[in-house]
Amino acid sequence: MTIEASKIATEEVLPKYTKNEHNTPKHDKLEGYEFYRSIGSPKYVVAPMVDQSELAWRLLSKSPLPPSMAGPSETIITPTGKKITRHAGGTHVSYTPMIHAKVFMEAKGAETGKRGDGQFNLTYDEEGGEGIVAGIEGGDRPVFAQFCANDPEILLAAAQKLEHRVDAVDINFGCPQGIAKRGHYGSFLQDEWDLVYKLINTLHVNLKVPVTAKFRIFPSLTKTLAYAKMMEEAGAQILTCHGRTREMKGQFTGLADWEMIKKVKEHVNVPVFANGNILYYEDVERCLEQTGCDGVMTAEGNLSNPAIFLPPSHPHFHPPITVLANRYIDIVSSLKSHTAGSAIKAHMFRMLKPILDTNEELRIKIAQCPYSEEMTEFKELIKGIEQRLEPIVKEAGPSFKPPPIDPKTGYRSLPIFCAQPQIRAKPISTEIGGTEEFVNNDENLKPSTQSGTCLFDRSLRHEKINNKNKVEKCINEECGGVAAIRCPTKACIIHCRINKAIESGLTEEEAKIEFEKNGLIGLGCESHEEKEKLRKERLDRKRKNKAEFRAKNKHRKKNENQIIKARSRSLSLSENENEN
Ligand SMILES: Cc1cc2nc3c(=O)[nH]c(=O)nc-3n(C[C@H](O)[C@H](O)[C@H](O)COP(=O)(O)O)c2cc1C
Ligand SMILES: [Zn+2]
Ligand SMILES: [Zn+2]
Repeated sequence: MTIEASKIATEEVLPKYTKNEHNTPKHDKLEGYEFYRSIGSPKYVVAPMVDQSELAWRLLSKSPLPPSMAGPSETIITPTGKKITRHAGGTHVSYTPMIHAKVFMEAKGAETGKRGDGQFNLTYDEEGGEGIVAGIEGGDRPVFAQFCANDPEILLAAAQKLEHRVDAVDINFGCPQGIAKRGHYGSFLQDEWDLVYKLINTLHVNLKVPVTAKFRIFPSLTKTLAYAKMMEEAGAQILTCHGRTREMKGQFTGLADWEMIKKVKEHVNVPVFANGNILYYEDVERCLEQTGCDGVMTAEGNLSNPAIFLPPSHPHFHPPITVLANRYIDIVSSLKSHTAGSAIKAHMFRMLKPILDTNEELRIKIAQCPYSEEMTEFKELIKGIEQRLEPIVKEAGPSFKPPPIDPKTGYRSLPIFCAQPQIRAKPISTEIGGTEEFVNNDENLKPSTQSGTCLFDRSLRHEKINNKNKVEKCINEECGGVAAIRCPTKACIIHCRINKAIESGLTEEEAKIEFEKNGLIGLGCESHEEKEKLRKERLDRKRKNKAEFRAKNKHRKKNENQIIKARSRSLSLSENENEN
């Protein structure tokens, strides 16, 4: 910290809160590390993810490989005598998607039907179920249900509806999105410490299971530490620290600050999960080591590779995407509980992304794939992808092993059949941590070059991807258009077609005249024409949808007009009656 920054930090005014004098829980329950050990001292954690950490996904993440590939599972007995089953590469604990406490309380038809409560299915013994669920030993446990709320009483009532089915209840103080701002929850409670304290404390005192909290850091270290301590005092038994500030979202996401997480971990006495910057298994181990945290939570890394916790020594390290997708679909179809279509498709897109990136047609097929009880259509689709990938799998050979991470780039280069993280292009300028050091010291506005820090290798990672994403200009110098990556003539579509026409014997003049007349449609290279065809199809679909919408609307309007007319007619009739 610079002198200037430390002066600001010590003079900082922290939000006030009132402590509860009668802080003893009404029920016997384990606290802090005792609780942590009672659920098997989990190190590998799947994050709460709206519409994405649903039951089927949690089960896949707990047991990502089919038994024939996974190898033996492990059973551990915790100090409280609880039996816990762990599968190769599986998560040790998962969080449910965020449940909106008020919406959950007001849900109609709760506890009935396939959909249960919509956000947590109490109908079947599957969500939060122990034993075997969808054929997976150990079921959905341990699991933490996450809520968002701003009213302690509503939160308590909602949490009490499902506390018998989960190991802990978590409160989301990290959501930075517009919807959280409007709804007044998530990270927008960051400056209302009295309310944050009450939300946690109400559950701590009244709930039968422990309460935990997930939060984002502040730019100020002092404030972050005081905030974490306040949550611990309120009764949070595990804290998850997401090493990004509230402002670090969307294009400003940038890197999570592991240094800050480390300081939080040192400052409190309850277990801490670190969250942010996990792309590979190696990052998980590095994060545990560098932050000293008790567990590592991952969201995006888990979505693109649900077997992210599989160690490099496992024979199926970075397993085939089709194996994972198949297993997920099998789980969805064997559950009695409903899995939202939006969740299924989003998972398919994320898992299969390596091949979809080069195949627009497949993407459309997934988007349009119908659902059925047996999910046969999805299984067919995956089978097709498997066949498409076969030559690449063959080329890699039966003894293929993923290479180590390239120390220069920070990335592991993998063939497209392997599950792998999604690398996003981000401007270097957002690669700034959230600490005062980085905000107040101009030198640090540049990526750190200190070898070994996470800032160092990540900034290199992004540099590489930025270069890769640089667009190439059309070969025709006056054009200024963008060349297609796979166009053999390195031209824009216009010049690609004109070049082909010249190749086929026309003079340049003639080719241009022909282009003016008919656009030389279909004459470009394969890549250009394929792209153009898909663009046309997309446009046609859009147009068709619009036309259908208009037609329906017209029909509706006509109906409405008739109703209005009929109503006014009957009105004038009754008025006439009155006159009589
Ligand atoms: C699809 C998606 C949904 C998310 N939903 C939630 C949520 O419901 N509750 C929450 O606390 N965080 C949510 N997050 C944030 C993650 O839990 C996590 O804090 C964040 O993505 C940073 O971790 P990562 O770098 O491993 O992705 C979500 C993230 C993603 C990508
Ligand atoms: Zn071309
Ligand atoms: Zn051009």
